[in-house]
Amino acid sequence: MRRQNKILPEAVLKFVPVLFFMLEQIKALQAEVENAVISNKEQLELFRQKFSSKKGVISSLFEEMKALPPDEKRHVGKPLNDLKNLAENLLKAKTEELENSLAASVKSPVDMTLPVFPNELGTIHPLNLVRQQIIEIFERMGFNVSDGPEIEDDYHNFTALNFPENHPAREMQDTFFIEKNPDILLRTHTSNVQIRLMENQKPPLRSIMPGRVYRNEAISARAHCIFHQVEGLFVDTNVGFADLKDTLYHFAKEMFGKNTKVRYRPSYFPFTEPSAEIDISCDIDNPKGCQLCGGSKNICKGTGWVEIAGSGMVDPNVLEFCGIDSQKYTGFAFGMGIERITMLKYRIRDLRLFTENDVRFLRQFEGE
Ligand code: PHE
Repeated sequence: MRRQNKILPEAVLKFVPVLFFMLEQIKALQAEVENAVISNKEQLELFRQKFSSKKGVISSLFEEMKALPPDEKRHVGKPLNDLKNLAENLLKAKTEELENSLAASVKSPVDMTLPVFPNELGTIHPLNLVRQQIIEIFERMGFNVSDGPEIEDDYHNFTALNFPENHPAREMQDTFFIEKNPDILLRTHTSNVQIRLMENQKPPLRSIMPGRVYRNEAISARAHCIFHQVEGLFVDTNVGFADLKDTLYHFAKEMFGKNTKVRYRPSYFPFTEPSAEIDISCDIDNPKGCQLCGGSKNICKGTGWVEIAGSGMVDPNVLEFCGIDSQKYTGFAFGMGIERITMLKYRIRDLRLFTENDVRFLRQFEGE
């Protein structure tokens, strides 16, 4: 006989709506457990409170069930027990899962999911960049690189370079002397390395000498008390002014572009005779415009020419000072400021930028 046809006693009938309501509730809770999202400790705890604690929904359903007559209890008991087991199993599984992942994250303190910091590479300082370019150009022409002291004696900085003592030519370069010993000074040019090289090696000599030099000058956009030069020296038999011209002509084209023109202006240096200042044309790669000055003409002063180096044939007196036979050997020398070459090449307007270490300036040379 089907159960529905049984005549239910009055006492039981009054529980029927409760029974249906409970079964509906169990069904809804079951769906909720099945769809529960538990991916962290907080969610796990909320789940536990709701489904598995003494004050949770399942416990209170068990409480409610107690009030049902035994016959009805059977209808509720089974699904309610199933729900309880379902919730408990899920709680157990999720607890384990979270503990394991926590243990794994403790084992590896690195959170691989964090976004990476960009790897900030430094850049080569523009002066080093240009220094290297100058060296490479001259190395291709057979020059090697020599070095010498920055703290120098008067003899190597002046006397051996044919600056007579107390001669006004010394005033050309404002010098930092060491107070306690005025014979010792900070070199005012890299020409001291010329002397040291010729003292120590026999011709033929073909060398360039990059280095830092010092002059007592007020710091401005165009001058600094510390700057850099590259000196060049070529001593051999039969070295003439044409060799000097050709060498620097080649350098200027390599450094500033194949359309660069070069001119030599008569000048004076105590250690060279004849002496010449070397200018390059301002209209590099663009015959119509003043490219080096960026159109402002404030570097070439509207002449279309800018100075890049001093040069000349090594004065026979200098060769003799260094023990080289000036009847047999001749040579040429040149000297240029690395700052100046860099400013022209990269159109930098202010010398102070080289020493201020402003990364916005320095970063512009990335990848050069
Ligand atoms: N030493 C010179 C200067 O500093 C430059 C120079 C070097 C000139 C070699 C001629 C030859 O001004």
